[in-house]
Amino acid sequence: MMDKLIVGVSSPCKELKRLISMVAKASTTVLILGETGSGKELVAKGLHLESGRKGPLVSVNCAAIPSELLESELFGHEKGSFTGADKPRAGKFEQAAGGTLFLDEIGDMPISLQSKLLRALEDKAIQRVGGNKTFKLDFRLICATHQDLNLKVDKGDFRADLFYRINVFPIDVPRLSERAVDIPLILNKILEDFEFLDGSINIAPTFDETALSALQKYSWPGNVRELKNLIERACVLFNGKSINSEHVKNNLLKIKVPDHGEESTALWDAAADLVGIPTGHDEDTTALPLPHPDQYKDWFAYFDNIDLRRHLQDIEIVLIEAALEKSTGQVSQASGMLKLRRTTLIEKMKKLAIEKSSF
Ligand SMILES: Nc1ncnc2c1ncn2[C@@H]1O[C@H](COP(=O)(O)OP(=O)(O)OP(=O)(O)O)[C@@H](O)[C@H]1O
Ligand SMILES: [Mg+2]
Repeated sequence: MMDKLIVGVSSPCKELKRLISMVAKASTTVLILGETGSGKELVAKGLHLESGRKGPLVSVNCAAIPSELLESELFGHEKGSFTGADKPRAGKFEQAAGGTLFLDEIGDMPISLQSKLLRALEDKAIQRVGGNKTFKLDFRLICATHQDLNLKVDKGDFRADLFYRINVFPIDVPRLSERAVDIPLILNKILEDFEFLDGSINIAPTFDETALSALQKYSWPGNVRELKNLIERACVLFNGKSINSEHVKNNLLKIKVPDHGEESTALWDAAADLVGIPTGHDEDTTALPLPHPDQYKDWFAYFDNIDLRRHLQDIEIVLIEAALEKSTGQVSQASGMLKLRRTTLIEKMKKLAIEKSSF
């Protein structure tokens, strides 16, 4: 069951699955740590599945819910406790009865709520917002964060007592780059899921040996989620075709230009839309990191339309801002860099609402 959920045979992945099975059956609080997109939520699912608990897995993303609403989301509320509370409602704590409560992105829990959360966990009981009846709590707690909680505690953004309360059994989810040997397996799993979900992907592309090895060499700062996005892009651009390492580097991975500093990265970010058009040219890292106009030639082979005016304007904005950044807001210097007349640049900045004072 766990092997179907968390795909991988590398030793960090095996170790992860071993830890999950060891701790799943206990009622111990688990703290899942790991980079963004590394699979923390999947680990929470795995823990719940293997726990054999009859109740549901109830997830709360503490970063996604506005802090004013988070309290009633967790604790529930009684009728009339605030404007809009026209019915009494059980919160996530109560909903998780007999099951697992997963507090995702716990590092983003507002400090104002942390002491109330700690009290609820210690007492194993809560009162709804605006109520005085006590509800007994019965759930297994799992928390996750991509943040460094030790650092947050040092900075005073996270209560030390809450940190010790949740940091009982920490599980580190490995980065994708640490388990690069799993990439072909994960890739196949993701392709299967896509075909199952989306009827429009008729024929999956195939990644040849060179493509797989290029994928295994990449650093994957966005981990499995980034891999998933790349595969989705591949399905659109290479429907039914074979993909090699050049396709991976030039068309599927965001093009990274080494040693050109921040502003060239910003350029490529802005040009990310253009990446994904096969040009047949080799990547030339010594040239200026600008997308070659030829890259637009095949646009309509892959897409139905482009908002030309909007797109050109986006490029304009990025280049003007980059020039202002480089010249620390000096318009005449920036206009020289852009080969524009000073007055033309000022006009453009006005039109595009670019303020020189922000540089
Ligand atoms: N080992 C794996 N096998 C298959 N799919 C995986 C694996 N690890 C992660 N995924 C997939 O990658 C995506 C990201 O995983 P998940 O949402 O669990 O990451 P996360 O660590 O919670 O990310 P975030 O920090 O952004 O919340 C999901 O679609 C998940 O199904
Ligand atoms: Mg997550």
